[in-house]
Amino acid sequence: MDNELVLVIDFGGQYNQLIARRVREHNIYCEVISYKTPVSEIKSRNPKGIIFTGGPNSVYLETSPKMSKEIFEIGVPILGICYGAQFLVYGLDGVIGKANENAAAEFGRTECEFNTDSPVFDGLRTRSVVWMSHNDYIEKLPEGFKAAGHSIKCPYAAIENREKKFYGVQFHPEVNHTEQGKEILGNFLYKVCGCKGDWTMESYAKTAIAQIREKVGSGKVLLALSGGVDSSVACALLSKAVGKQLTCVFVDHGFMRKNEGDEVEAAFKDWDINFIRVDASNRFIGKLEGVSDPETKRKTIGEEFIRVFEEEAKKIGRVDYLVQGTIYPDVIESGLGDAAVIKSHHNVGGLPDYVDFKEIIEPLRLLFKDEVRKLGAELGLADYLVWRQPFPGPGLAIRIIGEITREKLRILQDADLIFREEIANAGLDRSINQYFAVLTNMRSVGVMGDGRTYDYTLALRGVTTTDFMTADFARIPYEVLEKASVRIVNEVKNINRVVYDITSKPPATIEWE
Ligand code: XMP
Repeated sequence: MDNELVLVIDFGGQYNQLIARRVREHNIYCEVISYKTPVSEIKSRNPKGIIFTGGPNSVYLETSPKMSKEIFEIGVPILGICYGAQFLVYGLDGVIGKANENAAAEFGRTECEFNTDSPVFDGLRTRSVVWMSHNDYIEKLPEGFKAAGHSIKCPYAAIENREKKFYGVQFHPEVNHTEQGKEILGNFLYKVCGCKGDWTMESYAKTAIAQIREKVGSGKVLLALSGGVDSSVACALLSKAVGKQLTCVFVDHGFMRKNEGDEVEAAFKDWDINFIRVDASNRFIGKLEGVSDPETKRKTIGEEFIRVFEEEAKKIGRVDYLVQGTIYPDVIESGLGDAAVIKSHHNVGGLPDYVDFKEIIEPLRLLFKDEVRKLGAELGLADYLVWRQPFPGPGLAIRIIGEITREKLRILQDADLIFREEIANAGLDRSINQYFAVLTNMRSVGVMGDGRTYDYTLALRGVTTTDFMTADFARIPYEVLEKASVRIVNEVKNINRVVYDITSKPPATIEWE
């Protein structure tokens, strides 16, 4: 890739991915790398700028992350954030005051005054609120440095050495609570590093397509398509790169939302690929007969999925490459820290290791989710797929509480469709991150017309979240809930009561099973 590059050096802080995203929002390509990366390697990548992230430690701890001082010799501008700023000072022989010896610790919103002469604060308001989170503090600056900003407690809330192009901020410009954070990062990137901003999805798509072509040559490629954003975008990219050398297998397990199997097929059948839809719904429903335990459902579906996929792959014969929809947060989470945590993806399918292939292609491994969506739009993928909310691999099977029957599946599909329609009609479909209906296993008494009913209770769930690890229930207006409820009870046989789930995660989870 010939794009300008900024390297974010990971010292173990909690906002590291966020920093990378913020840099990319300025149309500058950046990667997060470990502080253990040799300086020679960093230099050879010719970065326009380097950002040191925050970290949980004090620079004085023996175990705290430190990199070789050679990093200060390679002539690349550096912005240190929080721990990163302290490491910059420490590494250049300044002094960091320890937490227990001072009252300079700051947490949360803090007012700062900036020197707007400084290139990083150029054009900004002199005073604004920043997000602080530090115990230790910068006590004495290294030679050549001066203050560029201060708070009441912290004389060196921002520091600079203009000649060397080294800057440090004690606060976190990457979080939204820092009022001028975006502009501060932008100033560093454009005014200090001299970036031009050449990272666009158009250029990414072009480069990725060329790289895939070169790698694959005349080989055969296989992709398990779920209809989710990642696999759909990967499919579109591969299709542009290698056309009919790509075979996409879409295993329809029958627990998709109403019409979804047909929609996925319609979206892909005109692309220049071999598209195989396997209608395996009878097989899956058969396997789940009598199963009510959620984990057994997941396991059974997962295993059956792999079996079906394997059977299809065998029909195709030997493939050279298998495509995986890994995205950048997975890459960062699984491989950078001191202890490499391998995230356990609970997606149906996983990696079918028995399929006979030579190598894996991960065409999205450098992209964040929102960038994957942008790329999808760039490649001409239908809006429906680009903006699809996350949908669990086991599908509606884990939204029918207890045992699954065809009848219950029909009820849930119909009710869920109405809920989704009403959310879309209210214009809320992009602001609520995930929303769906759950068919509870509970029946209760109702009255319809002149008659008594004894039917199912349907639960509606809507959440707002950024990472799906924690979530808040969505404040859906009562009128929207009312419309959905009235329609569901009137249009879907066997539902006589609708409730809305008002628990957050934790303590609840997003799904009910
Ligand atoms: P929970 O219910 O754990 O859900 O709060 C968090 C996110 O993960 C999705 N989810 C799954 N995705 N297979 C998947 O591919 C699963 O078994 C599964 N269970 C939950 C859920 O929809 C939410 O987005």
